[in-house]
Amino acid sequence: MRTLLLMLLSCGLIHAGTSNSLLDVSPDGKQLIAANRDNDSVTIVDLATRKVLHEIPVGHHPEGVSWVGGGPMALVTLHGGDQVVFIDTTAGKTLHKLKVENEPYGIVVTKDGKKAYVSHDYPGLVSEIDIDARKVLRTIKSGEWSRGIAIDNDEKMVYVTDFYAVKLHAIDLAAGKVVDTWSGHETQNICRHVVLHPKRPKAYLSHIVSRVTHTEGRGAIFPEVTICDLWQPKKPDDKRRKSIAMDTYNGVYVTANPWETALTPDGKKIFTVYAGTDDVNVSTVIDDDYVEMERISLPFKVGKNPRAVRVSPNGKEFYIFNTLDFAVSVYDVASLRKETTITLCQPPKSPEWVRGKVLFQTATLSGAKWISCSSCHPDGLTDGRTWHNGEGLRRVPPLLGLAHTHPLHWSADRDEVQDFEYTIRSKLMNARGLVPGPLKPKVGFKPIELDEKMSDRSKDLDALAIYTNSFNFRLSPHLSESGKLSPAAERGKAIFTNKETNCASCHSGPFYSDSKLAKPFNLHDVGTGLDDPGEKIGPRYDTPTLLGVYRNTQYLHHGKAKTLMDVLTTFNLKDQHGKTSHLTKEQKEDLVEFLKALPYEMPPDEVPNTVPYRYKDKMKPD
Ligand code: HEC
Ligand code: HEC
Repeated sequence: MRTLLLMLLSCGLIHAGTSNSLLDVSPDGKQLIAANRDNDSVTIVDLATRKVLHEIPVGHHPEGVSWVGGGPMALVTLHGGDQVVFIDTTAGKTLHKLKVENEPYGIVVTKDGKKAYVSHDYPGLVSEIDIDARKVLRTIKSGEWSRGIAIDNDEKMVYVTDFYAVKLHAIDLAAGKVVDTWSGHETQNICRHVVLHPKRPKAYLSHIVSRVTHTEGRGAIFPEVTICDLWQPKKPDDKRRKSIAMDTYNGVYVTANPWETALTPDGKKIFTVYAGTDDVNVSTVIDDDYVEMERISLPFKVGKNPRAVRVSPNGKEFYIFNTLDFAVSVYDVASLRKETTITLCQPPKSPEWVRGKVLFQTATLSGAKWISCSSCHPDGLTDGRTWHNGEGLRRVPPLLGLAHTHPLHWSADRDEVQDFEYTIRSKLMNARGLVPGPLKPKVGFKPIELDEKMSDRSKDLDALAIYTNSFNFRLSPHLSESGKLSPAAERGKAIFTNKETNCASCHSGPFYSDSKLAKPFNLHDVGTGLDDPGEKIGPRYDTPTLLGVYRNTQYLHHGKAKTLMDVLTTFNLKDQHGKTSHLTKEQKEDLVEFLKALPYEMPPDEVPNTVPYRYKDKMKPD
């Protein structure tokens, strides 16, 4: 028995929990667990009968699931709830909720079921969990925006991806630190997954490329799969990392937003799902360190917004989680034929919200199917980029709290999300749009959208607005306890509200912004318009909310300020943006601590400026 086990291990059998996913198959291949991100639940499926056994409520935004050993226990990460939930899949019950660091995303478990490793999106950590003791043993700094996570076969190393930089970091578990990093090109973006080859030292990362200088459709956003050679620590990164452009790979067949890859246990086939074009690529893995993979067929259509793909332990079936059908489809690996589809849960929230999410995710909203709204606004967050738009440099803001902070865009040239019909018809997305007939044409940078009423003209466009307006804030992790500012942040708050610094005159009210839809809009010149020679319509901008500002990757409309301190210093030399020159270094640091602590309490769910097109949830953290 022991020799058999050793043989199985030495031929590198893939085991449950090798890499992060919304889906996991039990090691005996009999059951499947799926995280229903928008329903705050997980579903357990019996694969023999193709029946749902349980749907178990777990908490806010489950993003990762893993079986523990052979089951029946499984673990779930709650990205919105800062917990790892222990569940009994047989009883269909929650056993325990373990409080962990902020934003747990992916999870992998060792073969013996003793330890779990969790990636934390912000601030970029990995936690090691003792499963029996139900406690966090240590946290390891793992880069930034850690999302993808995988553990190697001998369980000595954990590999983690940076969501925005598409770096791969190797963490040596004995040393308890990052020991190697495979860096990508600066255009590479949005990598929330990594999977390891079961036998060869290779890591596969699915992600996009955001070319911020190409805002005219075709050249802007590409799908890629990057393969890192894990055995070549001495060589420069361009020799140990190779990216395959999944557009040219498929000839004229266009794919968008590669979200996850999976390999068969023998390592011979690789699957890539595209969340933007709703399809899957099946390829043969080529063992040559050069070509790497060759497609078996053109991609083929699956269901809506596929976000996970997993292969059964015997290599015979693969499963695709079509998250906006709320269903898993079962396919035969040999024939690539679909065997069945299993519905996991009911659609969440409202039909309009779901329709809006479908439109936001789908690349069919763009002419050539290259781009979706979510390519730049993944799940309402930012792509971490500043785009070189016609009017000048424009950083992608997170869409949290949008319903309350209209008008839209840094220059307040739009007053309703339905105005993004103009984005759909622009050179960027190059499509016909959702509203029938022509629109008043844009002339230069004139804000025509402000004259043209776009709501109530298309159910789809209204649905897109409802979804886009429904992202909520979550409390800042920079608090000493929920709702409580640290002493430094308290001092910073006094400086912020002080008449001399004057921050609160513009960053006012519960959203720390004086944005309002009543005309004339409140726009301000805070001296930032001259930083970009390409600026065409500045120097007055709409006051951004400061809630959640700790999570930004860069600051100001042009994204040139790399830190909050830069906003107060380098970019405020003439005291046009509040008065900061009189503050001591310590006072500025306190002010930054206050900014980082926002929101320290949840803002109200309704203010006079709130727009009607949104899904009204309780102000649950997002
Ligand atoms: C190529 C990347 C890209 C794509 C694709 C994209 N956006 Fe944006 N989005 C941006 C940038 C950059 C900004 C900031 C522009 C500005 O303020 O002028 C922005 C701003 C916004 C804002 C305003 C946020 C605020 O706080 O003012 C909304 C709403 C928005 N986008 C929705 C959408 C929708 C809906 C789609 C799909 C139809 C979409 N975006 C597609 C890059 C993109
Ligand atoms: C006169 C109105 C006004 C005052 C006063 C003001 N702000 Fe601002 N703030 C703005 C505007 C407008 C922007 C956007 C400017 C830009 O992006 O170029 C902004 C941007 C910011 C940002 C960047 C947010 C982001 O997401 O990039 C921070 C941080 C900020 N302000 C903090 C402060 C602090 C701290 C003070 C007081 C020292 C202050 N502001 C005073 C109007 C103001």
